[in-house]
Amino acid sequence: MITLSVIKADVGGYVGHSSMHPALIEKAQEKLSQALQSGILIDFKVMRCGDDLELIMTHNHGEDDERIHQLAWHVFEECTAVARKLKLYGAGQDLLADSFSGNVKGMGPGVAEMVIEERLSEPIVIFMADKTSAGSWNLPLYKAFADPFNTAGLVIAASLHGGFSFEIHDVKGHKKVTLNAPEEIYDMLAFMGSPSRYAVKAVYHRATGQVGAVSSTQRLSLVAGRYVGKDDPVCVVRCQGNFPAVGEVLEPFAFPQIVEGWMRGSHHGPFMPTSFAQCNPTRFDGPPRVIAAGFQLAEGKLIGPTDLFDDPAFDNARKQANDIADYLRRHGPFEPHRLPADEMEYTTMPEVMAKLGSRFQEIEADSRKAVHSGH
Ligand code: F6R
Ligand code: MG
Ligand code: MG
Repeated sequence: MITLSVIKADVGGYVGHSSMHPALIEKAQEKLSQALQSGILIDFKVMRCGDDLELIMTHNHGEDDERIHQLAWHVFEECTAVARKLKLYGAGQDLLADSFSGNVKGMGPGVAEMVIEERLSEPIVIFMADKTSAGSWNLPLYKAFADPFNTAGLVIAASLHGGFSFEIHDVKGHKKVTLNAPEEIYDMLAFMGSPSRYAVKAVYHRATGQVGAVSSTQRLSLVAGRYVGKDDPVCVVRCQGNFPAVGEVLEPFAFPQIVEGWMRGSHHGPFMPTSFAQCNPTRFDGPPRVIAAGFQLAEGKLIGPTDLFDDPAFDNARKQANDIADYLRRHGPFEPHRLPADEMEYTTMPEVMAKLGSRFQEIEADSRKAVHSGH
């Protein structure tokens, strides 16, 4: 069995929140190389998506392993020190605890881990996003694993025909439920269609129980109890054979769905698939981005990545995303560009509203009645 752990954090942006200074990648690489030599890792890759540092690691220690989580925390701390020295923006932003205590979950970083029996050939896609939230994987995971109009294999491949089960987390109620596609898709969608509250944590191949996808569902604002930037989630998807083909897993991103995030984590915007090089959210700190890194695993070694959205076939999605961005931006501070009021509670706006609290006066119901009864 091999464990694939993707652990990510924003430990400082360059410039502002738009991208990452190469010194952070170098530091993370240096630290993980040392860990590799010590024997704790099988392999690793350091990547970045916008201003988020992504540690992709393979090892033999299972999910939630204290040493692996401690290693990731240590790397983020070391990179934060570099960020502080260069006075990069928001240095150490996602490290919400003063010191490590057993598991990075609940301490700021996002985590997606899976333990797998490596197949004869193991194609994996790792999606990484910036300027958006955990629930943004709901729609693409639904399409890839449950929608026959997206995934031809659900209809015509015997290995997929038995369907998939979805583990859905209520991130505010701290509860989870597992529902089966295809027979429970209406129930599933009742929850998944509200991605700010319900996020798909994992997808399983029903006939074999094999895990097909895992995502990070950490909600930074809920962890911190205040606004500290968006979650910028990751999602790992196994492909081919018992799972959707690489192209079926990428296909949902040809539609730039509207997600929450963008400027100040407070707006709706189109989810734009880009190449690694183009993943620098600059316009209005966005629009929200997603990159897709393709790997083949070989005895736990990460062969790759390939840059899967570096394909003109996604040009129309990018064009459409830009058109949607133009249209939404024209709403300025109005909903539905700006998030609905209850979601704004998890942003910096309540502070502004609180200042005006004392200016509000009761509307006298009686005087209104008097006007009406005067007719
Ligand atoms: C969104 C994001 C940025 C910042 C914005 C303000 O997730 O990170 O849009 O919210 O640039 O940043 P501060 O408050 O750090 O000045
Ligand atoms: Mg940032
Ligand atoms: Mg970010």
